[in-house]
Parts: sequence; C-alpha cells; structure tokens
Amino acid sequence: MGAAILGIGAYRPARIVPNEEIVDAIDSSDEWIQQRSGIRTRRIAGPDETVVSMSVAAAREALATAGVEPRQVDCVIVATVSHLYQTPSAATLIAHELGTDQPAAFDISAACAGFCHGIALAADLVRGGSAGHVLVIGVERLSEITDPTDRGTAFIFADGAGAAVVGRSESDGISPVVWGSDGEQWDLIRSVGPLQPILTMQGSAVFRWASYSMAKIALQTLDRAGLTVDDLDCFVPHQANNRITDAMARAMGLPDRVKVARDIVDAGNTSAASIPLALDRMIRDGDARSGDRALLIAFGAGLSYAAQVVTLP
Ligand SMILES: CC(C)(COP(=O)(O)OP(=O)(O)OC[C@H]1O[C@@H](n2cnc3c(N)ncnc32)[C@H](O)[C@@H]1OP(=O)(O)O)[C@@H](O)C(=O)NCCC(=O)NCCS
Repeated sequence: MGAAILGIGAYRPARIVPNEEIVDAIDSSDEWIQQRSGIRTRRIAGPDETVVSMSVAAAREALATAGVEPRQVDCVIVATVSHLYQTPSAATLIAHELGTDQPAAFDISAACAGFCHGIALAADLVRGGSAGHVLVIGVERLSEITDPTDRGTAFIFADGAGAAVVGRSESDGISPVVWGSDGEQWDLIRSVGPLQPILTMQGSAVFRWASYSMAKIALQTLDRAGLTVDDLDCFVPHQANNRITDAMARAMGLPDRVKVARDIVDAGNTSAASIPLALDRMIRDGDARSGDRALLIAFGAGLSYAAQVVTLP
C-alpha cells in the first residue's frame, strides 16, 4: 500500500495589494518589482484572516476535494513561521475547529520548505501504518512579521494558506523525499527578536544559493524517483521569485511542454503556503490535471529544502 495526495485546498485573503500601494515606503517602482521578482500583486490578510482561520478554510476545501470527513483525519501537520505563539501549536486549534476526532497535531518549522517537509512526513506516516489520513497545511501571515519599509523583503512576502490530504493509495503517488539543510547559512533569512519577530533577508546570497543549488536537488529528486524531466507534466517550485524559477528550469533542462507554476505573480511569496497555493491555481486553470506528475521543490530559511515528485489527485 502506498501514499498519495487525495485532495488540495487553498485560501487566499480577500485584500489584493498591487505594487503601487507599497512602492512609496521602499522607494521602489512597479516596474522594478515586476522585473526583479515577477510579482504584480499579493494578498494581505485582514484582522479576521488569521493563521488558524485561513488554515481551516484551506483544510475544509482539501478534505471536501478528497472526499474525506474531518473525523477520518489521524494527524494534522501545520508548516508555518508566522503563528506567533511559542505554544501550543496552531495545529491543535485548527484540528479542533475542523471537527476532527482528537488527532495527533503539531507544527513544523522549515520556513518556505515547510509544506514539502510536511508531505514527506505524511507520506511516511501513511506508508508506515501510523496514520490513515494526514492533513498537511502550509500557512503564513508574513505581513505581520515583515517591515513595510525594508526594501529587501516588503515587496516579496505575503499571506495565504494551502492544504493537502495525504492518504492510502494502491499505487504510490509520492516519491521519496530529497531534503536537507545548510546551517552554515543560517543567518541569510531569519527573524530578529523573540517576541515580535521581523523577517530579514540577504536577498542576493539567497538568490545565488537557490538558483545554483536547487536545480541539482530537483534532478536528484527525479533520479531517486526513477524519473527524468521528460516524465514530468508540471514543475511547482516554491514561489520565491520568478527569476529563480527560470534559472532552475534552465539548469534542469526542463522541456517547454512542462507546465511551470507562476502563482507568485498575483500571490507574492507566501513561504510555507506557496506550493499548495500554486498547485491549487494550476488545477483550477487547467494547467494541471488529475494523474499528472508534478515535481515539488521548496527552499528557504535554514537554509532548508525538500523536494518530491507527486501524482496529482
Ligand atoms: C530581493 C532581490 C529581488 C533584490 O535584488 P538584487 O538584485 O539582489 O538587489 P541588490 O540588493 O543587490 O540591489 C541592487 C540594486 O537594486 C536596488 N534595490 C534594492 N531593493 C530595491 C527595491 N525594493 N526597489 C528598488 N530598488 C531596489 C539597490 O539599491 C541596488 O541599486 P544600485 O545597483 O544602484 O546600488 C533579490 O536579491 C532576490 O530576489 N533574492 C531572492 C529573494 C528570495 O527569493 N527570497 C525568498 C527565498 S525563500
């Protein structure tokens, strides 16, 4: 018995913030932001759109798509860096609000790579027999921990939530993960201050690391899955920056027919939420279909990363 993603859901905050609204505070321009990152607009959460409420909305959609009842969920894994409470986890409250039956529930901290870490854990829990259905949520409210006057981060980070239900499947729909970290570069993206953290980022160094190292990880992931770029239908990298996506696709020799996620254009960089949001968009737009093979690769603060090939529900 294998494991597969059975359903995907998303929640995008109602408020759309175009570049024009943020450029004055960082002495920038719409043109510069679009050229350097691909971002045109992003979603910013209102007071009622919390880490928990956005997660619950995305999770409900994922459960409905999967045809799984909340009571069938054995484990809830929440990937986030913007649940601003040391304890308890966001996962316990989200599990409760969903009407689940007291499942295992915990948060993981792997920044932008969090969702792919969660999928890897979920797949192994299901394959190992520890859980029947695992709900994996990637959620961020980065606007709360981003300095609107920081030129290096204010235009990049945004808010949203995405979720996936992982469950049993006759054929395995989630490949072995390739994951890791490079703690020597721990200080490149980090929050400063324990009580009201603010994100900082050394953008150029992150850009170099992601553009050069992540294509290799993507190819290793295909290799571990016994696949090549020719077997892929979709490429869904963390929506960090369109230029990083382009550099990776080039370095991997990705064929033109493979559909590439570009959710960043209207969503910004939503860290742990970016991959499920991008997947949801591709499915809705008809760029990804049931049964398609998608390479997911996420990377960020740590520096940490995780990648796997999944078959879409
Ligand atoms: C953030 C990022 C777009 C900045 O681009 P960059 O080319 O590295 O920018 P630099 O800091 O080297 O600055 C280059 C020039 O742009 C200017 N600049 C920096 N930020 C700016 C902004 N927001 N608006 C306008 N100009 C800006 C600088 O002043 C500098 O000008 P100069 O050449 O006249 O001195 C880029 O580093 C990046 O995308 N990094 C990866 C970020 C990322 O994906 N993070 C998520 C990982 S999970």
